[in-house]
Amino acid sequence: MLNDSLLPKHVQLRAALLKTIEDELQPGAMIPSERDLTTRYDVSRATVRAAISSLVNEGRLTTVPGRGTVVTRPRVESNLHLASFTQDMRQRGHRPSTEVLSAAVVEAGEATAKALGISPGDSVWEIERLRLADDEPMAHEVSWYPEAIVPALGDEDLSGSIYAILEATYGVVITDAHQTTWAEQAGHTYAHLLEVGETAPVMVFDRVGSSHEGPVEQTISRYRGDRYQLSMSLQRGP
Ligand code: GLP
Repeated sequence: MLNDSLLPKHVQLRAALLKTIEDELQPGAMIPSERDLTTRYDVSRATVRAAISSLVNEGRLTTVPGRGTVVTRPRVESNLHLASFTQDMRQRGHRPSTEVLSAAVVEAGEATAKALGISPGDSVWEIERLRLADDEPMAHEVSWYPEAIVPALGDEDLSGSIYAILEATYGVVITDAHQTTWAEQAGHTYAHLLEVGETAPVMVFDRVGSSHEGPVEQTISRYRGDRYQLSMSLQRGP
């Protein structure tokens, strides 16, 4: 029951919910339904909705389409440096795993050919993978590697680190990358794969990774905006 009559009911309910979130609920857990909360705290639905929406706005709760409202989980934070997905997740204490969706030799399109310094139509391995952290979808990736550099890449077990395969099998170390980042809505295809709503934000990374000898990979990764964040140290420019 709420009893501090000086404060509006929804403010009191917000405080009570926050205490429940902190004391009793795990990140990702569903909060009680609106109906339960109206009964439990003897307040109107409007009060419940106001309290929930203020916690959603503060980032403490997340609305999951089709499921309800859950306690927000902290994002996986990544420092900006050149790492593979496998390293990145391990460094942050998460267990990486991968579902290989497809692996085939295709003809390079214009943009990929330009990025990789080859001719359009040259053969490239196209590898599509879903990357998971602690068994939950984190990113979707599609990568292209020139077949001339990694002729039998598709014969390898691609459910681990491709960067590790490049090093161990081909002696190719990705030492540099140029990466462009932007935000998008997940849209139908990626919403399904990443298990988010169609309007959920995703962070897109278009990386061209190079060894000392030149470009080796282009990868377009789509990371879940609710699960991933980047931090970077910046120096004042001229
Ligand atoms: C990151 C990069 C990709 C790269 C991948 C390699 O996700 N954004 O460009 O292809 O790591 O990861 P792994 O070596 O784990 O396959």
